[in-house]
Amino acid sequence: MSKIKILFVCLGNICRSPSAEAVFKDIVKTKGLAEEFDIDSAGTYAYHEGEMADRRMQQHAIKRGYNLTSISRPFYPNRDWDKFDYIVAMDNSNFTDLRAMARNEADLKKLHKMTNFSSRFNYDHVPDPYYGGYEGFELVLDILEDAGEGFFNYVKKQE
Ligand code: 4NP
Repeated sequence: MSKIKILFVCLGNICRSPSAEAVFKDIVKTKGLAEEFDIDSAGTYAYHEGEMADRRMQQHAIKRGYNLTSISRPFYPNRDWDKFDYIVAMDNSNFTDLRAMARNEADLKKLHKMTNFSSRFNYDHVPDPYYGGYEGFELVLDILEDAGEGFFNYVKKQE
């Protein structure tokens, strides 16, 4: 059986999407389904390409047991739309940027917004924590844990 391929996308790929990747990997691992998934992350903006996740994001994530190991890389429209089954934007600007890069209807069908899968939180986007304080990083993880479960349930229903 081919794997279910999921790409989480934010702006810099150093805070929100590497966290989404780690949280979702943990969710599928906990359910014993890690082998069924191929999970990655990317940014719409290449400025941080080659960097590890933001140190503050790493510190908040590790306290919850998430080790952020991914290296920032940009979204590659010509490769990623074909490679992945689900492309999940963290905020409205990421969503709009990705939508503008879609080549056809099939690409657009793969595009989702993370907070649409939330059940405990009412945010319509995962707020960018980069220029803020401590609470912003914790909020990112809170939203991702909640929406991650909802997204998992959605994906299982589709497959
Ligand atoms: P991310 O956060 O999109 O969640 O990775 C940001 C990272 C870097 C910048 C902005 C947001 N930046 O302006 O460099």
